Formats: sequence, C-alpha cells, structure tokens
Amino acid sequence: MSEEARPQLQKQLELSPAAHQESERLLEEKVRELASANQLLQRYLDAVPTIMVALDTQGCITMINRAGEEFFKQPAKEMLGQAWFERHVPDPGGSVAVPLFRQIVAGEITPKEMPSEYPLVDSSGAQRLMEWRTGILTDATGATLGLLSSGEDITERKLAETAISESRNLLLKVIDTVPARVFWKDPELRYLGCNTAFAQDAGIANRDDMIGKNDYQMVWAEQADAYCADDRAVMAAGVARLFFEEQQTTPTGETIWLRTSKIPLINDDKETFGVLGIYEDITEYRRIEAENRTQLADLSALNTMLTQAQNQLLQSVKMASVGQLAAGVAHEINNPIAFIDANLGVLKEHVADLLNVLEAYRQCEPALLGHANFIALIEDAKKAADLEFLQEDIPSLIGESLEGVRRVKAIVENLKDFSRVDTAEWHFANLESCLESTLKIVANEIKYKADVSKEFAGIPEIECLASQLNQVFLNLLVNAAQAIAERGVITLRTGFDENEVWVDVADTGQGIAAAHLDRIFEPFFTTKPVGKGTGLGLSLAYSIVQRHHGRLEVRSELGKGTVFHLSLPRQRTLDADILSSGA
Ligand SMILES: Nc1ncnc2c1ncn2[C@@H]1O[C@H](COP(=O)(O)OP(=O)(O)OP(=O)(O)O)[C@@H](O)[C@H]1O
Ligand SMILES: [Mg+2]
Repeated sequence: MSEEARPQLQKQLELSPAAHQESERLLEEKVRELASANQLLQRYLDAVPTIMVALDTQGCITMINRAGEEFFKQPAKEMLGQAWFERHVPDPGGSVAVPLFRQIVAGEITPKEMPSEYPLVDSSGAQRLMEWRTGILTDATGATLGLLSSGEDITERKLAETAISESRNLLLKVIDTVPARVFWKDPELRYLGCNTAFAQDAGIANRDDMIGKNDYQMVWAEQADAYCADDRAVMAAGVARLFFEEQQTTPTGETIWLRTSKIPLINDDKETFGVLGIYEDITEYRRIEAENRTQLADLSALNTMLTQAQNQLLQSVKMASVGQLAAGVAHEINNPIAFIDANLGVLKEHVADLLNVLEAYRQCEPALLGHANFIALIEDAKKAADLEFLQEDIPSLIGESLEGVRRVKAIVENLKDFSRVDTAEWHFANLESCLESTLKIVANEIKYKADVSKEFAGIPEIECLASQLNQVFLNLLVNAAQAIAERGVITLRTGFDENEVWVDVADTGQGIAAAHLDRIFEPFFTTKPVGKGTGLGLSLAYSIVQRHHGRLEVRSELGKGTVFHLSLPRQRTLDADILSSGA
C-alpha cells in the first residue's frame, strides 16, 4: 500500500488511536507478507531456466525473470514497460504475433493460437529461435491483465533437428534414386523402412506405411515363408547372401522374377539388429533370355535342317551322277549282250547240228575199212582235236557262256532298277523288291563278310520315293557289312500291320558304344578311319525316312550286333513338305 493512501484510509475509518495502531501493524504485516510472497514468487520465476515474461494488455513487459535478464543482458527493472513484440521480436515473427496477441487479450481467441515458435534478438543482436508456451493473466475478478509466456531457446535443437532431417531426406533420396528395391527389417522381420519403389511393389504409395508391417501382410504373403526363412538364415549366419533368384507376387496377381541380395545389419558391437534386402525385377530380362534361347534353338534347328538338306543334296547329286553313269553303262552293255545272248543261242543250235553231222560221219567209219590212209588221217585229226572232250566241253562252254550272259543281263537290270530316273518320283513300290535289288548292288561288299538271311513277310506296296529308300537300304547294308570283322550274318526282316510296314536290318557285328548311340545320325559322325567313312550315310538315311514320315530306330549291343528298325506309314501323308517335293 502507498504512503499517501494510508492517512486517507485512517480518516475514513476514524479508528481510535489504539485500534489505528493495531490496524497499522496488521497492515504493515500484510505488506511484508505480500512483499516476501512477491520475492518468493520472483525467486521461483528466477529459478526457472526458461525465459518467463509477463505482458500487460498493451504488450508491454510487466515482469521478466533472471533467464530473461541474462538473455538480453539487461536488468529486469530497465526492461519493465518495454513493448515486447516491437522491441525484441524480429519480423516476420513480431508482425504475425502482435495481432494474435491483441485478439487473445480481447478474448476473441485462446492463447493456444499464439505461434509456438518465434525468435528473439539477444544482447549480441543475434536471432535465437524460441519455443513458446503462453497463458492468460487475470485478476481476482477474472479481468484480463495480460499474458504470461515462457520461452525456451531451441536454436541449437532446431539446427540439429534440421540437420538430421536433411540428412535423413538425403539418405531417402539416395535410396529412392538407386535403381533397385531396398528394404530393411528388424530381427522380428518387421519392416523398419524401404524405398518408394519397394513400397510400390507392395501396392503401397507411401513408404512410411510399410513400417511395422511384415511379409504376411503383403500381396506376396504366399512367398512370406520363403522370404522369412532366407532373412533368418542370413541373420543367423551373419553373412550376406548375394544375387539369388526368387519369385514375387505383384498387386495385380502376376508373378515376377527378382534377383535379390540379403545382407545382415550389424552394429558397432557386432550385434545383428536386422536384415537389409536389395533386389531388381529381372522378369523382362528372363523373358528376353528365354526368347533368345528359343531363337537360338530355332536357329540351330534351322542350321541342322540346312546341313541335312545340304548333305542330302550332295548325296543325291552323287547318287544321281552314279545313277546316270550306271544307266549309261547299262544301256551300252544292253545291246552287245543282247546279240551275244541271241548269237550264243543260235551257236548252241548250230554246234548241236554240227555234232550230229559228226556223229553221222562216225557211224560211217566201218565203211572206210581198207582205206588205211583215210582212217589214219581221221584218227590224227580226232586226236589233235581231242574230239571226245570237244563233244562234251562245247555244250557246257556254251551253257556257261549263256549263264554268264544271263547274269550280266541281271546285273544290267539291277543297275537300271537302282538308277531308274522315274524313281525320283513318288510311286507304289515293294520294299522287299527294293531290298533285293539293293542287295545285288552291294553283293560284292557283303559276300566276303556275311551270309544274308531273308525273313520276308510279303509286305504290301507303299507309295514312296523308292530310289531314295534304296539309298537307305544301301547305307544300312554297307554299315552292317563294315561292322562285321570276320564273318557274320546280316538278317533282313520285314513286317507290316494296318498302319505301317517295317524293315529290320540286323547284323552280328561289333555293335555301337552307348556313348555313340545318340550321335550316329549326326552328319559327319563317323568312327571309321579317314577315307573309309564320311559319316553321312545314316544322316542321309534319317532325313529320307523323315521325308516319308517314318521312323529309323537303332538297338545295339556292344560285341553282339546292331538292329536298325525302319518303319514307314502305309498311307502317304500329303503335307507341305511332300507337296513341295514335286510329287
Ligand atoms: N551296323 C552298325 N554297326 C556298328 N556301328 C555302326 C553301324 N551302323 C553305323 N554305325 C556307326 O555309326 C557311324 C555313322 O554311320 P554312317 O553310316 O552315318 O557313317 P559312316 O558309315 O561312318 O560313313 P559313310 O556312311 O558316310 O561312309 C559309323 O561310323 C559307325 O560308328
Ligand atoms: Mg555308312
């Protein structure tokens, strides 16, 4: 209470001197109590480490604590009455806060609307960012006296927070820029973080939404067991597992292929605190790879076809020229052999006639008795000519010559059969006859090596390229003979059912090693010495059989022999291949 107010109050109350003294004492006591309460309050406020400032309704300082004095390096007394916002708060913070302050004082808004952060200018003129908490000061009647604010200097904390958030953002930016999916999980295999691409693979737009989830909550739940097993194995071993391929289900339900690496996360104390995963989607790469593989397979199939076609062409050119030569020779021999045959026939008759005449003369020999000189002449001539032998030998000579001519004619027929130009076309032929005529062609190759046994079933004719099948038989027969070292048997067996006819060419030769069985139909595969085998025989045979839509199969036992089984359809299949063959 002020000194001037006291006599006035005394006068008003018109107290007795004693009562006046007592009330004076009580009053002073109250004033002392108040002053000490005030000091206590001030000490409390001074003990607070943050700035405490009270403003009146005009925004002027009515109280500021020690932290405030130290901040501004000014005694509180000097600061009382200063306009807080205008004097200490730099723009734009000040100009934002002032209208809000006025609205709060007017009771239009609550103190919560005050900015929670605005800076102050300290004694050195530097701006310090403060975090503010504000409340309303009222008197006993509830009338607003002003605001009380506490402010904490958060400049360093803010800088650190900004630095942390900037480096976090930078890290996330880097992880988002990596052209791969990146994620990391805690030891319980919950996602701790990931990049945006990974979240998008899970169908989740915001990567932060992945945090805390596990694989069983993802679109790839069906792969979760496998993923978790891998994660656990990597964490248990403490060793990375790099570049393995696995599958993943996408949000649209497709399955894609990943190339994944998983790395254990290990802290400075060498403890594993999670697992880091990185993968890229290699579905497209795998598709292209598969496509390339198919293309390569197609190309090598094409290449094989081309090689086969080329070999076949070579062989058929060779066969055609051999055929032409044979046909020419056959034609040339045909005429002389025809007249030798005819002449021998006539000669045989003439000689028989002559011998008859001689016999008639012999029967007249007794009539020459008494003509010793004639008899001696005849006996000398008989002796010189060895007439008895001549009489026996001449018919057999002519017989043998006729047999020889017959055989030459047969060979010529076979040559003509084998090289017949018309056999280049599809026509009905009997494979047993083909075998017979081919056998005759290769008789020389075979006769010193093997006896040929024929078990023919009387198969029906089929429509085929007979001259080409002759080449197949020729190759099989020559191979069979060549496989026999000393002497053996070649068995030709035929058979048929309602769909197929078949021919077996079996030999008792050396057999084929299991390692070679897969390769014998390859062009140029041969086990024969240079100059003896070109390795084309079976590949050519195979392609001819294919052209007939048949099968050429082999069974062989080393040291025992080999059977080639050829089966052909009875009905010709009219496909593009056959049509284009000019049939
Ligand atoms: N009957 C068989 N017995 C044992 N091996 C055989 C028989 N037929 C074929 N082979 C094996 O298959 C290989 C390939 O035969 P293919 O007829 O294609 O060629 P080649 O006989 O070696 O040579 P070319 O027939 O061109 O003169 C032969 O070198 C041989 O090793
Ligand atoms: Mg051969």
